[in-house]
Amino acid sequence: MKITSAEFVISNTDVNKCPKTGFPEYAFIGRSNVGKSSLINMLTGNKKLAMTSSTPGKTLLINHFLINKQWYLVDLPGYGYANRSKKGVADIQRVIGSYLENRMEMTCLFVLIDSRLEPQAIDMNFMNWLGENQVPFVIVFTKADKQSKSRTENNIRGYIEKLKEQWEELPPYFITSSLTGVGKDDVLSYIESINISLNKK
Ligand code: GTP
Ligand code: MG
Repeated sequence: MKITSAEFVISNTDVNKCPKTGFPEYAFIGRSNVGKSSLINMLTGNKKLAMTSSTPGKTLLINHFLINKQWYLVDLPGYGYANRSKKGVADIQRVIGSYLENRMEMTCLFVLIDSRLEPQAIDMNFMNWLGENQVPFVIVFTKADKQSKSRTENNIRGYIEKLKEQWEELPPYFITSSLTGVGKDDVLSYIESINISLNKK
């Protein structure tokens, strides 16, 4: 799929103020600094679309980007940023929770995981919560350019093994780098296939 237009629409903390066009949306979530905003920029080919930063905690709002005037990419705040105040953590959790529980248009959640790391409890707990709450998701391993291919594959294997302890069926997963563009076609084709299946209904 080719992205011919990508435009910022609205940022807010209130799920009731999200766009009411009814278009399907694909939301990106994961720990602070994992590369959510960078991935949105990589997919759309616009480095300035979503704000990125080397300091964790940059994205604090629900951000809607309209793609090809037909569907949305949604940049969500990161979870698990250690330097946030207690209130800050609770506020972010409320924003994320209310979006995931109430947003009917949310078609598939992309859970981003840093491909450099061994399985992290915070990500496992979050994915278990998604399963319990029947939120459909896939996994995206980010920052694949940061280490060797075999290192990435080892880390992914670790995650898959850990997930298998709790899940009978594993979600699809993608390997990406926002620096090199690895994974771009895979992620966009996946979204396209869902969009096509929705249009056929
Ligand atoms: P918050 O909004 O703070 O939750 O972070 P985020 O998940 O949106 O991360 P962001 O996209 O802002 O990226 C965080 C840092 O990682 C930035 O310095 C990016 O340049 C860097 N980064 C993101 N993706 C990649 C990648 O694929 N490769 C490399 N080398 N760096 C990346
Ligand atoms: Mg961000």
